[in-house]
Formats: sequence, C-alpha cells, structure tokens
Amino acid sequence: MTIRTEVRDGICELVFDRAEKKNAITAAMYAALAEGLERSATDGAVRAVLIRGSDSVFTAGNDLEDFLNNPPHGDDSPVFRFLVAISTCPKPIVAAVAGPAVGVGTTMLLHCDLVYAAENARRSLPFAQLGLCPEAASSLLLPALAGHQRAAEKLLLGEPFDAAEAKAIGLVNRVLPAVELIGYARAQAAKLVQLPASSVRTTKRLMKGDRLEPVAARMREEGAAFRAMLASPEAREAFSAFLQKRKPDFSKFE
Ligand code: COA
Repeated sequence: MTIRTEVRDGICELVFDRAEKKNAITAAMYAALAEGLERSATDGAVRAVLIRGSDSVFTAGNDLEDFLNNPPHGDDSPVFRFLVAISTCPKPIVAAVAGPAVGVGTTMLLHCDLVYAAENARRSLPFAQLGLCPEAASSLLLPALAGHQRAAEKLLLGEPFDAAEAKAIGLVNRVLPAVELIGYARAQAAKLVQLPASSVRTTKRLMKGDRLEPVAARMREEGAAFRAMLASPEAREAFSAFLQKRKPDFSKFE
C-alpha cells in the first residue's frame, strides 16, 4: 500500500509512503486519499485530518508514468474524486510538507487549513512545462492568495519556490526544522481535536462558504482542459522525456 491511513486520538493521518518514487501519486493512491477524506468527513471518531509524507519528501505530484498509461477520463476519476473530497471536507485539514512538493503536492495545500513546512521544502507547479494546465482550482486560488504576478511566475514559468517564499505568500503558516515538522503538525492537529467539533466545523464552513461554488466550477473547467491536454503530443513528449531522463523537445509542435 502506498498511502497509509491511520486513525488515532481523533486524527486521521493520510501518509504518502512511496519513497522510492518520491511519493508520486498513482490513480490507486488518489482513490485511497479520496476514501480517507470521505470517511473522515462522516466518521465521528475523526476530528482532524493530517496529510504528510516523510521529513524529506512530501510528493512529486502526479505519477507521470501512470498518467501516461492510465489517464483520468472524467469527473468520477480517482484524481477528481480526491480534489472534490479535499476541497469540501467539513473537518479541518493540517498538512506537513518537507522536501519536494510538486504539482498537486502544492495545489492540494490551497485546500488545507493549516500548512506547516520544513526548511527543506521546495515547491513547484510545472504544469505549462509538462504541456498541461493548472488543476485543483489553483488558477483561481493561487492568484487570489499571492497576486497575479507572483502566481504567474509559479504557474507559467514553473519557477520553484522555497519554504520562506511559501510563507511570504501566505501558503504556509510556519517553517520548521525538518526533524520537528511532523511532531509540530501533530500537536497542532491535537489542539483542533480538543476543541468543540461543531464550532470547528461551523467556523471552517463559514470561512470557505463563499468560495465553495466558484472553486467547484473552476475545478470542473480546469479538469476538462487538463484531461484534453494530457492526450496532446506536447504532454506525451514531456512525460516520455521525464521517464527517459532527457530534455523534452517541443520544437516540432506549433
Ligand atoms: N512520476 C513518476 N515517477 C517519478 C515522479 C513522477 N512525478 N517523480 C519522481 N519519479 C521517480 C523517478 O523517475 C525516479 O525513478 P527511478 O529511480 O526508477 O529512475 C525516482 O522517482 C526518484 O526520482 P529522481 O528524479 O531520481 O529524484 P530527485 O531527488 O533527483 O528529484 C524531483 C525529485 C521530485 C524533483 C523529481 O523527481 C521530479 O521533478 N519529478 C517530476 C515531478 C513532476 O513533474 N510531477 C508532475 C507534476 S503534474
């Protein structure tokens, strides 16, 4: 199993556990994440969710080989189910991010309530570099958070950014030494567990209320474009180049 789901002391931990592939996310892993979030939404024993990898890697994003061989087809695909579940989860979500957080590894953070990063965290959103477009409503949420120009640097140029910059744009609450990250994130989740659950749920619902429908609509729009672009020759060249460990050549495409 490459996602571990552990429920303890009111916290559901969803853990990326595929270190040899930098925790790249396959369709099966998206399904496990979606199930963990959907179950947490209704399970009275869960009062907070913690998403994490290890103290050296969060996730390299979509598994490019799995995407190439097994592309998502519609709104009921595991990746889309995961995005709906994380963006509508009524319970608080804490994320602990260390090392690489690529693509969806960063865009999923826009839907978390508390985000803690290790000093070694490095994010990037290389959608355009892969012949794709943003997902997870990041084309809406990142410009709203960071401003259009800073978002454009990340979403058009795919320029990587470190934990300090992520904190400066408001994507991260606090930056910690890697060895302290998971313990600190757990302690913050434990604080949420101690609070009256109905107050936590109501506060989260009120904070997200206005954005739920625009976020859902943008996700559908991005999803349709993303799926079409996955089949494009540009994306196939980018994915093959990554897997063959060479530079992509986009010169033959107009
Ligand atoms: N999909 C599939 N396999 C991936 C992957 C991904 N997104 N990211 C890493 N891997 C695999 C590598 O192919 C490699 O496999 P191998 O050992 O069988 O050759 C293994 O994981 C280790 O990756 P490697 O690139 O050697 O690690 P690194 O520490 O040098 O670099 C990253 C880490 C995350 C910066 C780099 O792997 C990367 O850029 N990955 C692609 C990220 C990406 O484009 N994601 C999609 C966003 S939509």
